[in-house]
Amino acid sequence: MVVGRVLNHIPEYPAKLYKSALFRHILITGTTGSGKSYTASRIAERVCRDLRVPVLVVDWHGEYSKVLSEYTLIEPRELPLQLLTGEPGELSVMSSIFELTPPQEYILEKVIGQKGPSKIKSVESLLDLVEALPEESSWFRESKLSLHRKLSLISRGGYSDLFKVYNAQDEALSGIVEGRREPLVVDVSVISDLSVKRLYASLLVKRLVDYSTRRLKPLLVVLEEAQNYLSRQAPVKPICEMLREIRKFQVGLVILAQSISQLVEDALANTNTKIIHSVKSKQDLDAVEKTIYMDYSFITLVPYLDVGEAVYTTISLKKPILIKVE
Ligand SMILES: Nc1ncnc2c1ncn2[C@@H]1O[C@H](COP(=O)(O)OP(=O)(O)OP(=O)(O)O)[C@@H](O)[C@H]1O
Ligand SMILES: [Mg+2]
Repeated sequence: MVVGRVLNHIPEYPAKLYKSALFRHILITGTTGSGKSYTASRIAERVCRDLRVPVLVVDWHGEYSKVLSEYTLIEPRELPLQLLTGEPGELSVMSSIFELTPPQEYILEKVIGQKGPSKIKSVESLLDLVEALPEESSWFRESKLSLHRKLSLISRGGYSDLFKVYNAQDEALSGIVEGRREPLVVDVSVISDLSVKRLYASLLVKRLVDYSTRRLKPLLVVLEEAQNYLSRQAPVKPICEMLREIRKFQVGLVILAQSISQLVEDALANTNTKIIHSVKSKQDLDAVEKTIYMDYSFITLVPYLDVGEAVYTTISLKKPILIKVE
């Protein structure tokens, strides 16, 4: 698949991205306006059409329906996500985003264990169950109240229809991913609360990645504004783990971020393909220099690249090249 053309080379020739590289993850970075989303949209389109790999775009700003020529657009309310699955470690997304303390996690596990996830019908009834727990001690009471406060965010303001506590989800997911020739765009920009948006987006990725790995189906996920999932301060654990583990399966992530110095190490170390548009901040330039070995003449070009131009490295290349994405 072509991503653009190689610059500074006569005759010019196409810069390629191979299917095998998709599943070893891609990082796209650059300052604002340097061309990250445009690049991701070209990749999404061609991966779907030419490589026949389904693509999910988690559309943070609601811009992909303007830049893609073909797509299927889904509003989060049309795809309510399952909060609980009954699987081990299932609280890790909620726990990362709501910064649950160990006692709060313990309480939540206790409530779910008592009743069984399939018996809890709605977010409200989950909250009621938390409320009804007998208070064993003062720490318990405090943790319970604060857990209740955190969870009540997703039952307010119409957010509760974004989530289902427990329902078999596979059918809904298979309906949206199977046999699709155009990217699936989920517009999360309609969710205004930042933690609810992060929770919905992270669960969406988790559910779809789990679905694809269980069925040994390929999938590419485009994650805009990746600092919301992969920042050093507040990483969403299951998404970090995906970067480490899913290359065993045919599931790849495309991570877009303006500032790579703010991202967890996994985001740099575990992305084999990197597309570096113009980077101007000293901190981020240092991070680029640490992550990719390139000649001095190359690194000095990075701040002055034009829109759409990028330093490109991928597994099939011996050393970084300069490209124009088109
Ligand atoms: N390779 C390209 N060829 C032609 N036009 C491009 C190219 N890349 C980007 N552009 C145009 O430049 C503008 C900015 O690009 P884009 O939105 O992709 O930047 P960005 O890096 O995602 O910015 P932000 O950080 O603000 O999201 C857009 O109008 C886009 O159409
Ligand atoms: Mg963008």
